[in-house]
Amino acid sequence: MSQSEVVYFNGKYPPKDKASLSILDRGFLFGDGVYELIPIHNKKIFYMEHHFQRLKKSLELISIDSSIIDEIDFEKIINSLIDSNGYVNHFIYIHISRGVDNFRNHIYMENITPTVLVMGENYQPFGIDNIKGGKNAILEEDYRWLKSNIKSTSLLANVMLKNKANSNDAYEALLIRDGFLTEGSASNVFIVKDDIIKTPKLSNKLLPGITRKFLTDIISMHNLNFEESDISKDELFDSDEIFCSSSTNPVVPITQLDNKLISKNAGQITMQIYNYAQDFIKDFS
Ligand code: PDD
Repeated sequence: MSQSEVVYFNGKYPPKDKASLSILDRGFLFGDGVYELIPIHNKKIFYMEHHFQRLKKSLELISIDSSIIDEIDFEKIINSLIDSNGYVNHFIYIHISRGVDNFRNHIYMENITPTVLVMGENYQPFGIDNIKGGKNAILEEDYRWLKSNIKSTSLLANVMLKNKANSNDAYEALLIRDGFLTEGSASNVFIVKDDIIKTPKLSNKLLPGITRKFLTDIISMHNLNFEESDISKDELFDSDEIFCSSSTNPVVPITQLDNKLISKNAGQITMQIYNYAQDFIKDFS
């Protein structure tokens, strides 16, 4: 964090290390809120409409008045953070909690004012060597709730799963519910089998990733074979290639799953999609 880096917090632009929150904020007490992660490429907001749409949907699904998305000019706020903080390639988080209550109670007050934070984070995406060599993943039971389509800040299960992966020298935990792949702890998952790219169809069991959407756009632009379908645990292990997608790293090849080698290096189709994605991002303006 640079010394003068600012964030947007409830209508003001304080320095990042000075913005602070009431202990009665429901985001802190209950994880009662939603968020969005939006990449900035070449100082421009990537897939902006899709991110704002998903944020709106998340708000609706937890009954926070979603007109806040039209009332607050998020595009202007993000552009102002890009200018003030000199972001070129960066990541922006929008966090909206239900707001600050008068006392701690599961039941929220009516007409509570949401808390709104917009801030930058500087992740370093993987370099090409990391991508080409691929990453390990572990397989875990998906013990999260059945509203994983909401981009909620209640992320305890995801945090536990990602940390378990990390302590096992793995990039990601791939999640299985009722015998079928849902997603990763912080990414969507694609497989390739016999030259067909597959990913689980959207449902309440997984996040509708914007990178998932971006990659399916690229896949269709380049006429690659693609289907959305159920992927069983056996099919996952039997894949020719696996990769994860997220805003921070659009395509991350998984070459080993638990103790099973999936491919020696990143698969050919995975690298094709990786390169198409990188070219699209490079030209994005
Ligand atoms: N997470 N699934 C889950 C559970 C995620 O947390 C993420 C992203 C994705 C991919 O979504 P998108 O393509 O829109 O980034 C799927 C990011 C990295 C985060 O929460 O910080």
